Amino acid sequence: MSNIEQTLSIIKPDAVERNLDNEIKEIFRNKGFKIIKEKKIQIEKSEAEKFYKVHETKPFYSDLCSYLSSGPIVVMILEKEKGVLANRELMGATNPKDAEEGTLRKKYGISIDKNSVHGSDSLENAKIEIDFFFKD
Ligand code: CMP
Repeated sequence: MSNIEQTLSIIKPDAVERNLDNEIKEIFRNKGFKIIKEKKIQIEKSEAEKFYKVHETKPFYSDLCSYLSSGPIVVMILEKEKGVLANRELMGATNPKDAEEGTLRKKYGISIDKNSVHGSDSLENAKIEIDFFFKD
């Protein structure tokens, strides 16, 4: 049985602002991810609040949503064998300080907020997050 999975990736404002989006997309492709769909957009804070609703009780929720809506982002559907976990491994730990060598957050992340990329944390959430950005 095939284990091909789709997952949602976001290149966050700090990385797009530094023109790192093409470089990051190239890393995904080199690691065997297919970019099935992509778009560069800027979202409203109210949309970020919906996207990050699971975090609504966290103290950092408002800042997080302000940040995600502060500038252009690139949202992508990535596809690969066991893609959800593969993407999380390539991203590295949430806090760039804890991220391992060779991960995107180690290479590009500035802080726990400006950690350059987001990726779905489970197959179930990947479907929800893909629908959020790509359901027509
Ligand atoms: P992300 O994977 O996009 O999911 C939620 C984001 O909240 C996370 O990356 C971080 O950028 C941000 N964040 C800010 N503060 C924290 C924190 N204390 N713990 C976890 N995530 C945080």
